[in-house]
Amino acid sequence: MSGRGHASEGRPVTVPRLRKMKRDGTRITMVTAYDATFARLFDEAGMDVLLVGDSLGMVVQGQDSTLPVTVDEVIYHCRAVARGTRRAHVVGDMPFLSWQVSTEQALTNAGRFLSEGGAQAVKLEGGVDAAATIERIVHAGIPVMAHVGLTPQSVHAMGGFRVQGKTEGAAARVLADAKAVADAGAYSLVLEGIPPDLAQQITEAIDIPTIGIGAGPHCDGQVLVCYDLLGLTPELKPKFVKRYAEFFDDGVAAARQYGDEVRAGVFPSEEYSFSNVRKSDAPAPASGLSLVQEGRGVYGPQG
Ligand code: KIV
Repeated sequence: MSGRGHASEGRPVTVPRLRKMKRDGTRITMVTAYDATFARLFDEAGMDVLLVGDSLGMVVQGQDSTLPVTVDEVIYHCRAVARGTRRAHVVGDMPFLSWQVSTEQALTNAGRFLSEGGAQAVKLEGGVDAAATIERIVHAGIPVMAHVGLTPQSVHAMGGFRVQGKTEGAAARVLADAKAVADAGAYSLVLEGIPPDLAQQITEAIDIPTIGIGAGPHCDGQVLVCYDLLGLTPELKPKFVKRYAEFFDDGVAAARQYGDEVRAGVFPSEEYSFSNVRKSDAPAPASGLSLVQEGRGVYGPQG
């Protein structure tokens, strides 16, 4: 890592620190990440929490939902994210049916995210029905971030990715879910796809931080899928997504220019080529060419 005096050098973000942030009224910043390079980027930008979300099934694997994602796959991405992170708190997302089958399986799977994936906590989608399992996982020393409201793993039960809690009865059920997971020992709670006034009511009713996505401005923190935030999913524009960059368009433009320059014989010029074969075995003068950047690993020949 670069060590250039960025936010990534601050004190590591821990579970107690996140809880204190709620008490202090300091907003929590969270974003998804799936590999070491993006983790490094967000860590350097000072994000508090990196979620290795099962959304990787959609944005990395190109699936239509998160349902096909496996525990092994999320753990693989967790390891990469943990390697790219210095300060942020890394959370591994427990995929579809990874905790419901039995408590033993839930504990074993949750533990793997910490021991194999390098995560500091797990997230799982569920409310009242998940409370007993959350309690067991937490008692095993594994911090749990819960997730209620629109829970993408229940896409078929919900009839699509639909805003939840829109009527008084439905809102009461989401509130009951939130209270149940907080009482079970979850240290934080994702509120996804619910009306802002319901998110505010939940945030005021429980003493653990709420982190919203499509849940309005009153949560203790916010999370976005990093591909949405960076503009890598141009065809998707849900109401709650703000794009802070246009990486897809910039990437297409860069790749087009590269293709044009290769076809025209403009790239690689001398500037991007090594020295020609020397006529003698005398030591070569310094070429000024180096791929070494601030001590980071290189993936090609030098000089
Ligand atoms: O998988 C994911 O990215 C998530 C966030 C949307 C909260 O669960």
